[in-house]
Amino acid sequence: MQTETRALYERLKAKLGKIVPDFELEIKADLAARINELKRERNAVILGHNYMEPALFHSIPDFTGDSLELCRKAATTDKDIIVFCGVRFMAETAKILNPTKTVLIPSPKAGCSLAESITAADVRALREKFPGVPVVTYVNTYADVKAESDICCTSGNAAKVVESLDADQVIFLPDEFLASNVARETGKRIIFPSRAPRPASASAEKGLEYEMIGWHGRCEVHEQFTVEDIERIRQQLPDVVVLAHPECSPEVVAASDFSGSTSEMVRYVREVDAARYLLLTECSMGDNIAAENPNREMVRLCSIRCPHMNEITLEDTLAALEQTRYVVDLDEDLRLRALESVERMIAIG
Ligand code: 13P
Ligand code: SF4
Repeated sequence: MQTETRALYERLKAKLGKIVPDFELEIKADLAARINELKRERNAVILGHNYMEPALFHSIPDFTGDSLELCRKAATTDKDIIVFCGVRFMAETAKILNPTKTVLIPSPKAGCSLAESITAADVRALREKFPGVPVVTYVNTYADVKAESDICCTSGNAAKVVESLDADQVIFLPDEFLASNVARETGKRIIFPSRAPRPASASAEKGLEYEMIGWHGRCEVHEQFTVEDIERIRQQLPDVVVLAHPECSPEVVAASDFSGSTSEMVRYVREVDAARYLLLTECSMGDNIAAENPNREMVRLCSIRCPHMNEITLEDTLAALEQTRYVVDLDEDLRLRALESVERMIAIG
């Protein structure tokens, strides 16, 4: 083995020796060493979302984090190429923020059920139905939807973004669970116009002070967790601390002890002492947190891998750098309109 491959192999073995077979670590260390060499040659930066598979997560990214943290890194990098090890809407956000860079996504199949749940035409129709009501869109949307919005948010700042708007009504798209969780956290009422159509003035007529208007998008991973999952675990392990991503249903979030973005969950496990932790989120992240915190006991309930994040492999990341594929490009007018929504969010924090 070459020196860099050997060093990477040792690092991966120390972190992941208990969860990844040795022969796989050897292959992955070799791929990672080739990627890191090419990354230097091509003056590239690799951003890795918290949901990347453990060997990739612990070997090639220059920065790891949640959507908001990676947005910030994408905005400020001076490298020529940004390789986004995450899903397409994230790579698009990197392009929106840093248009002079070449942004690559290792797989063209890395979508997202939330991003696919809504179109720009849907947003325009909602604007017609609720004239003058500000539109907040979760960053888990494509650039054309961001371009129709007033401001974006992530799971880490959604409540803060909604509260920053001086409006009696807010359209919050497209995640119905995140919207319901934000409504609950901020003490607002939420309606879904496709279930109960009503005019924009209805809230005023009924004396409501504030209302959120939602959409029926869902994360195909987080919608699978149930309150029964939590109850069953609590019966067996009463001292377990349950952490749920806000893309879980409001019932699941209410039955949990903590809810936050992927990085907020990472920090919680690192900083808060508990007997054991149950993570209700994508399962590679559970492996990554377990690898980082060998002294913490993680309850292994997770079997739900995001099929889109799963598309991003070391093999395809190497091919991305070798062949400069798959380039993320956006129409300039659309990019500028989407940029306004993303920048407004970044200004809020
Ligand atoms: P975070 O912004 O919390 O990293 O979430 C992104 C995501 O896709 C969760 O499913
Ligand atoms: Fe989209 Fe859910 Fe996958 Fe996150 S976990 S990328 S929200 S499908």
